[in-house]
Amino acid sequence: MAASERQWVLMATGRSPTNIAVIKYWGKRDEALILPVNDSISVTLDPDHLSATTTVAVSPSFPSDRMWLNGKEISLSGGRFQSCLREIRKRACEFEDEKKGIKIKKEDWENLHVHIASYNNFPTAAGLASSAAGFACLVFTLGKVMNVKEDYGELSSIARQGSGSACRSLYGGFVKWCMGKKDDGSDSLAVQLADETHWNDLVIIIAVVSSKQKETSSTSGMRDTVETSPLLQYRAQTVVPSRVLKMEEAIKNRDFDSFAKLTCADSNQFHAVCLDTSPPIFYMNDTSHRIISLVEKWNHSQGTPQVAYTFDAGPNAVLIAPNRKTAALLLQKLLYYFPPQDKNLSSYLVGDKSILGDAGLHSIEDVDALPAPPEMKIPKQKFKGDVSYFICSRLGSGPKVVADENQALIDSVTGLPKGV
Ligand code: ADE
Repeated sequence: MAASERQWVLMATGRSPTNIAVIKYWGKRDEALILPVNDSISVTLDPDHLSATTTVAVSPSFPSDRMWLNGKEISLSGGRFQSCLREIRKRACEFEDEKKGIKIKKEDWENLHVHIASYNNFPTAAGLASSAAGFACLVFTLGKVMNVKEDYGELSSIARQGSGSACRSLYGGFVKWCMGKKDDGSDSLAVQLADETHWNDLVIIIAVVSSKQKETSSTSGMRDTVETSPLLQYRAQTVVPSRVLKMEEAIKNRDFDSFAKLTCADSNQFHAVCLDTSPPIFYMNDTSHRIISLVEKWNHSQGTPQVAYTFDAGPNAVLIAPNRKTAALLLQKLLYYFPPQDKNLSSYLVGDKSILGDAGLHSIEDVDALPAPPEMKIPKQKFKGDVSYFICSRLGSGPKVVADENQALIDSVTGLPKGV
């Protein structure tokens, strides 16, 4: 190979959102292909607040595939990364950039190696589905670099093989992961139910709950549930199919009452299935339970749901309000019970900080002066320090190419992550 030919580095950068399931995925019918026992439905969050950004670089000068996550090199040898790389490479198409002197034939892709750098704009270990955003972004960006022509449905089926819920991050708005029936998993993919503009009043507040305990990973937790929980059969075969239809209807009609009831019920049944596992799995903690109690009492006092809650495989609460006015009221109640530990209110709420102004909370003194929520029976006790911080977000769009080359995470000359 001529030296000039060895010089080029071809790159693309993508950004993908994370998503939160309102009808939960729990349990696989095929471990290797990551095929679920039921359909699931999620909302995609605003990538400005919760997303992964990934740059993929290709060059004939790279001797092997390498990846860096949040600046640290990680191994790509795991089956999940290998499945995504293999499936995208299989679909890679011819590419030519005459100006840069790049010509790649379809069969060349097998021997071209990639460097991947990825960065999450939220804490990777906070239990906020970083692998969903991460694998969706990896597949999307690999597809861009390798000139893959497949539609997003097909890409979602590949992302699924990296992390199940990643398939739902290929679309914005409201997304359904259809479990599929085929043994090869080719019909287990995501479809968009409605885009992010369909119901854009919704406000999402996430309470990142402090947790010192080591959690059961989703992979091993699901496996234990499938092997031991009799309740899972009932959930997957009887409850979820009709609940999915009702949820689709609620989303279509922007019916918050039904949406909230279904969301809370499904979160609670998911955690019931975890408790029904042997040995039982506890993902929520006392703080999670206190937040459920606060929302349930408020909803009950009004006679109709004000806010929906949902909890994934961890203690963080995801709270969905129908509009900014209700979200501001929710924030007041949350900050009454869970005030910040230090004086800095601005770092205690990240994302869309303007909700603080809507709630009339401009300083820590405003938080100290908040009245006790009247619907609570024991309003005196406060739980300072039990919530690490809050994130205020909204529905967001699916993956996008980051066109600004300055935002690439890899140096186009060295082919290595910037700053390494
Ligand atoms: N797991 C967590 N975050 C990730 C990312 N950004 N890319 C790939 N895997 C991940």
